[in-house]
Amino acid sequence: MPSPQSAAAVAPSVASGGPDARQLSLGLPADLPAIAIPQEWKTQQRLWGHSFHPMCSYLASFPASLAHAFIARYSRPGDVVLDPFSGRGTTSLQAAAEGRIGVGNDLNPFAHLLTAAKAEPATRADAVTRLTGLRLAWQADAAAWQRLADAVASEESAAEARVPVAGSREGPDTGTEPVPAEVALAFHRRTLAQLLFVRTTLDLTDRTDRFLAAALTGILHGRSATYLSTLMPNTFSMAPRYVREFAARTQFQSPERDVFDCLAAKVIRLHRQPVPAAAGVALLGDARDAGARARAELRGRGLPDRARLVVTSPPYLRVVKYGYYNWLRTWLLGFDARAIDRTLDDAHHREPYLVFMREVLAGLRPALTEDAVVVLVVGDVETDRGRQLHGGVGLAERVWENAAAPEGYRLAGVALDDVAANRKMTKLWGDEAGRATKVDRILVIGATEQGRRRALAGAAIDVDWTWPPRGLRAI
Ligand SMILES: C[S@@+](CC[C@H](N)C(=O)[O-])C[C@H]1O[C@@H](n2cnc3c(N)ncnc32)[C@H](O)[C@@H]1O
Repeated sequence: MPSPQSAAAVAPSVASGGPDARQLSLGLPADLPAIAIPQEWKTQQRLWGHSFHPMCSYLASFPASLAHAFIARYSRPGDVVLDPFSGRGTTSLQAAAEGRIGVGNDLNPFAHLLTAAKAEPATRADAVTRLTGLRLAWQADAAAWQRLADAVASEESAAEARVPVAGSREGPDTGTEPVPAEVALAFHRRTLAQLLFVRTTLDLTDRTDRFLAAALTGILHGRSATYLSTLMPNTFSMAPRYVREFAARTQFQSPERDVFDCLAAKVIRLHRQPVPAAAGVALLGDARDAGARARAELRGRGLPDRARLVVTSPPYLRVVKYGYYNWLRTWLLGFDARAIDRTLDDAHHREPYLVFMREVLAGLRPALTEDAVVVLVVGDVETDRGRQLHGGVGLAERVWENAAAPEGYRLAGVALDDVAANRKMTKLWGDEAGRATKVDRILVIGATEQGRRRALAGAAIDVDWTWPPRGLRAI
């Protein structure tokens, strides 16, 4: 691991010098400099950062401590910090919690929901009040919802049973839909009845309802008593076929869990820390035009419209299907998992991926200040479903050469995040771990020469890891 002192020894220019022994030992191509950013984020406790971060698990998310390491070094309170691939909204939430203007964008509606729930959260009082209202409304109509859940769960009537679509409430244009058999298998019948009621009733355009819906996705499935179904781990939804086989083989019966009790407990856990004083911005759309949309939105709010820092992790090559791996959550929210996977840019082979990344970086450039720093966390992918993946290793270097350099960015260096990546992906996929990243490489670039110099100068700055930060406690 690079030491803080080695920052000065790092060649400042891409073209400089001969092979550096330390670069070779890190496995970096000889012509790319390493940047010596102390990797203290690896040694922080697991849930370091704001209590909204663990609202719901999200595949390939990075820890809040990683976002902090760059926010603290490369931005000041009041600066705009942007993440065009926001996932569960880690960067934008952490930025807001540190007094910055956090902007998160994602093309996945589930990611957008999580980012928005953190950017514009419900207060604890609003969430608790709404939850009480929901509980009363449920009690008034529980028998009817229970009949519906029983019809969905019973073998004789399941094929014909239809339920109101998510978010339809009780308007005149209420539509109905069947319920996938695996959904019914996952829950106790009473829990299912409550979920059918809640998903019909919540309005995802409303701040409080959106917060509750996002919190609900976080407790939908997992192994402990805080979750509504114990059928699968909380990290991702198991394949529907596996769910059917597993449930049949083990005669799985989900324990009865009260949705309102579990959700109330989750709201209290989330609100362990005060809501960040500054609201963030959550955008839904393609990263390629995130810059223009972010500027328009910020201008509309009377805020500075260019980002001084980008901290982001682009989709990995053919590793994660965000719709498929979240099908139970997308069902709850009324999103189409297949449509999500068709839309997202996580299925590219290397060449189209690099073209995509170049377009993303070109689109971002006008939305950056002259001295902006851009931090790209890029995972290496060695194999795809058991087959060696051509071009999956050294991806960050290729992103630099084929996407960032041609758009005029200036390279500060590449930092490695090997330990965290191995732990993260091995835990997730077990035997399939080889399919995922071996090393995350963190590409640190400047929007201009000024940005590159700022990136190099800031690399060795001491970062305060007290949480909440001294002098900037959230109110
Ligand atoms: C590696 S994840 C980011 C995780 C994030 N750093 C976090 O901590 O939660 C990559 C994200 O890119 C999103 N994505 C894929 N294609 C996209 C596109 N064309 N535009 C915007 N987002 C996209 C995916 O939905 C996913 O959330």
